[in-house]
Amino acid sequence: MAISNQIDKEKLPRHVAIIMDGNGRWAKRQGKNRVFGHRQGAKSVKEIVRAAGEMEIDYLTLYAFSTENWSRPKLEVDALMSLLVSSINSETKELMENNVRLLSIGNHDILPKNVKKKLYEAIDQTKNNKGLTLVLALSYSAKWEIIEAVKKIAQLAVNQEIKIDEIDECIIDKNLSTHNIPHPELMIRTSGEFRISNFLLWQLAYAELYFTNKLWPEFGKEDFFEALLDYQNRERRFGKTSEQVEHKI
Ligand code: IPE
Ligand code: IPE
Ligand code: MG
Repeated sequence: MAISNQIDKEKLPRHVAIIMDGNGRWAKRQGKNRVFGHRQGAKSVKEIVRAAGEMEIDYLTLYAFSTENWSRPKLEVDALMSLLVSSINSETKELMENNVRLLSIGNHDILPKNVKKKLYEAIDQTKNNKGLTLVLALSYSAKWEIIEAVKKIAQLAVNQEIKIDEIDECIIDKNLSTHNIPHPELMIRTSGEFRISNFLLWQLAYAELYFTNKLWPEFGKEDFFEALLDYQNRERRFGKTSEQVEHKI
């Protein structure tokens, strides 16, 4: 039976987050430069966005560029930025056709002006779409995001808009860049690395983690469905016992 038919549509995660890793290694294996790998990686993005839409997943967050990635060679950073602009140019039409709403999280103040402009134009153009919400984590780091939230909450306390004792999970959630977005139930990382690399540290607190050796440029629809199927076979206990989960007590 085709893998997509084995998936129970009633038991899908609402939000899947992906660390798209391995473009450089993939390119090296082909005897090509790293930028070639990133271009191929953009094709995987297209395929996985389609696959998530097909499965009627509500939110897909893709880690496209981390704060730490700014320290890569300038040539690679520049190439990634122009790839981003050209992808937005070529893909916005398909996002509209497929009813995809684009959002982005991260420190956008340090993005090149033209990138920021393009990004916000696409976000604005797709803002009323009601299908999949595609969140690009761009110039993003979870520690940066948490620091920003702490600053905002401290300001609320200084302004006496909240009391220190009122600070709870809900207030922290509201002050993260992912406010209004449910936490991911499933996080996928490609390329055989077993780490989080400063991605959604707060939001992944109870996510199921799925690691695959496939490099991002070779990660396709079937691999995505495989991860969803694996997720469905896990028991999410949230601290309870297996018996409690089984009997819903
Ligand atoms: C992921 O692939 C893409 C970005 C981080 C932008 P890498 O470029 O990290 O590829 P590897 O890890 O060097 O193979
Ligand atoms: C994580 O990949 C960031 C993105 C996928 C955008 P990296 O390749 O930068 O991660 P590390 O540095 O190997 O952990
Ligand atoms: Mg990498």
